[in-house]
Amino acid sequence: MKPDIQTTDDVKALIDLFYEKVRADTQIGYIFNEVARVDWAHHLPVMYKFWEFLLLGTPDAYRGNPIEKHNELHARHRLKASDFEQWVLLFKASVDELFEGPKAEDAKFRAFAIAETWKPKFDGPFAK
Ligand code: HEM
Repeated sequence: MKPDIQTTDDVKALIDLFYEKVRADTQIGYIFNEVARVDWAHHLPVMYKFWEFLLLGTPDAYRGNPIEKHNELHARHRLKASDFEQWVLLFKASVDELFEGPKAEDAKFRAFAIAETWKPKFDGPFAK
């Protein structure tokens, strides 16, 4: 039986594994590596905080405007519904590889729910 997500180290392990998969992914890896040229030393700690806030409820862990960041990215390179779907697939696979339990389920649901909310903003009849 795998442990559930409980500590900041757990969140860090999950996010590290997820972005390892993202960077190596044949469908969406290039968006991070070549289009956005992500500075991982900066981005990973931001993502630890974002997920700590969502999963562990650490107050004020993350301050930022993720929609704005993705709007900027989208303006340079169209984000497709299938990109979001692949993102969610990799996120779920990362959770399942390391954890199980209610928090693990919550993490997968939140990733899915946010991606589903964002998807039509970027790819759909009313997308800009
Ligand atoms: C196709 C799907 C996605 C792509 C290609 C993508 C790509 C990116 C990139 C390139 C950045 C900017 C990194 C930088 O600072 O240079 C970023 C930031 C971020 N992304 Fe995504 N993303 C995707 C989906 C998501 C989803 C579904 C979530 C949430 C569940 C998410 C959460 C965030 C957050 C919180 C940031 C940090 C914003 C900040 O700096 O405050 N992303 N993403």
